[in-house]
Amino acid sequence: MTTMEAMQKRHSVRRYTEREVEEEVLAALRDEVKKCNDESGLNIRLVANDSETFNSLLAKINFSGAKNFFVLAGKVSEGLEEKAGYFGERLVLKAQELGLNTCWGASFSGKKFAAQLADDEKVVIIISFGYGETQGMPHKGKPMESLCKTDGNMPDWFRSGMEAVMLAPTAVNKQKFLFTLSGNTVKAECNNGTFSNIDLGIVKYHFEAGAGIENFTWR
Ligand SMILES: Cc1cc2nc3c(=O)[nH]c(=O)nc-3n(C[C@H](O)[C@H](O)[C@H](O)COP(=O)(O)O)c2cc1C
Repeated sequence: MTTMEAMQKRHSVRRYTEREVEEEVLAALRDEVKKCNDESGLNIRLVANDSETFNSLLAKINFSGAKNFFVLAGKVSEGLEEKAGYFGERLVLKAQELGLNTCWGASFSGKKFAAQLADDEKVVIIISFGYGETQGMPHKGKPMESLCKTDGNMPDWFRSGMEAVMLAPTAVNKQKFLFTLSGNTVKAECNNGTFSNIDLGIVKYHFEAGAGIENFTWR
């Protein structure tokens, strides 16, 4: 499955079956977590088969059967949230490629993990994963014109980037982001309250995958 196919198939799934995630699948995910940590300096952890901790972390209200999750943590710094969004979405899409389902979860209490983190680190967000009861449903989206600005002429690579962005998860499905093209530079902004920078990292990851990083530079 390509990254684009994974983006098309991915929808948030909050109800999981009892099927255990196989050891080789977990190994592939751990490998990806290590790569993400090495590249980003984040301290992402993978927790498997621990429904008790999951239930103590997240409001159980709309999740069921969740027992596997990524904890997106890192040193408190200006870019922390955006990095958590960017690398978290990379893990979401890797999980999708491996046949799993996922859901980002913001309404958690990080206390349980505080003891395992350094004083200058914090948990930004968690992401559940497992075999879903369903594959989820496509979210309702805004039209492309309201999510980007160009000087009239939209190159194919920019359109592909926007198509990928429109498939991205955002907190409460707000899609409060704007991509502006000028020349071959692209500016991405996001205005979704507390979640702005996490959403920003997620949509930038999608844009790069759809547009091709060789076609533009970030402003
Ligand atoms: C930063 C962020 C935080 C989220 N927090 C929660 C959450 O706490 N609980 C939940 O059920 N869904 C949460 N979601 C999932 C969104 O509601 C979901 O991504 C959005 O409705 C779009 O649907 P889709 O993921 O199926 O495309 C979160 C998503 C993001 C990106």
